[in-house]
Amino acid sequence: MFTANDFIPTSYSESIESGNFQWSAPSNIALVKYWGKKANQIPANPSVSFTLNNCKTITKLAFAKKQNTDNFSFDLFFEGKPKEDFKPKIQKFFERIEIYLPFLKNYHFTIDTQNTFPHSSGIASSASGMAALAMNLMSLEKALNPAMTEDYFYQKASLLARLGSGSACRSVKGQVVTWGQQTNIERSSDLYGVEFPYNIHENFKNYQDTILLVDKGEKQVSSTVGHDLMHNHPFAERRFAQAHENLDKLIVIFENGNLDEFIKIVESEALTLHAMMMTSMPYFILMKPNTLQIINKIWKFRNETQIPVCFTLDAGANVHVLYPNKDKESVLQFIKDELVGYCQNGQYLCDEIGTGAMQL
Ligand code: PMV
Repeated sequence: MFTANDFIPTSYSESIESGNFQWSAPSNIALVKYWGKKANQIPANPSVSFTLNNCKTITKLAFAKKQNTDNFSFDLFFEGKPKEDFKPKIQKFFERIEIYLPFLKNYHFTIDTQNTFPHSSGIASSASGMAALAMNLMSLEKALNPAMTEDYFYQKASLLARLGSGSACRSVKGQVVTWGQQTNIERSSDLYGVEFPYNIHENFKNYQDTILLVDKGEKQVSSTVGHDLMHNHPFAERRFAQAHENLDKLIVIFENGNLDEFIKIVESEALTLHAMMMTSMPYFILMKPNTLQIINKIWKFRNETQIPVCFTLDAGANVHVLYPNKDKESVLQFIKDELVGYCQNGQYLCDEIGTGAMQL
């Protein structure tokens, strides 16, 4: 296991003038939710997620040595066009990670990024986006220090991604990633995500996630503000303890493949996340009427067919419909027949468990 200090380099063996790298990194969907944090993006409770396969960010990073090393210097392009409004986020990211990548001010960077999912889908691209950028920066660091081990490379990439956006640290690897210290998970850490280290039952192989786009509008409350409202929240301590309990239960469920128990934890986690929002001060609601319509339809369909389909939610109104690969045909038919009407412009995205970031 690494400590934060292990990621602060002392010297590099190589020197590099210019070059470029390109990585893709996927989005992820949490089963046990991260909601609430301490200083420096340390989570208040552990979480676990499925890494996705299709919803991803592709980022090319070009770099060239510069004379003046006083400031960070970078240009940012989104889908080929300059994107000024993303720049403060990147500037802040560079400031946070400079201690870990002391070469940052030596280069001018050109960051060229695009998503495989529609821009206006309401899907947060911060997890995939920060993970893709972190991978590229680690490729540069590896070029400066070729002796770096693969383990160090990936764990540090996850640590950097975490400093960009907490849940991004779970987008570096697949297929199931936990983040946050948990006694019963070896090598688990608050600093970075780790691949779930135990057996995962066949039932979860190619597990499906169909994302129903209920509301693509700007969220009224950002997740940064939401996390912050867990300070002095009346139910915070109990909630953080519950996340540990649910993660322990999932360790057993991943091993034995009990989908009824899986569904109970996953749906309860989604509703608890939103319950925390509704019981914050100030309180807020991110679900929409159609979110609830969909949830009720899923429950009815599950009751009638005994097909183990369930839902989860992230910090928004969209619904992630989770189900085993073997039930794909019937669930997709159900979605087309009964749920598409609740989606904005009938839009939904088909995804499944994936393996993590890839160099292109
Ligand atoms: O990574 P952030 O700060 O955007 O927080 C994400 C929080 C949830 O998506 C609601 C839960 C999670 O664990 O991903």
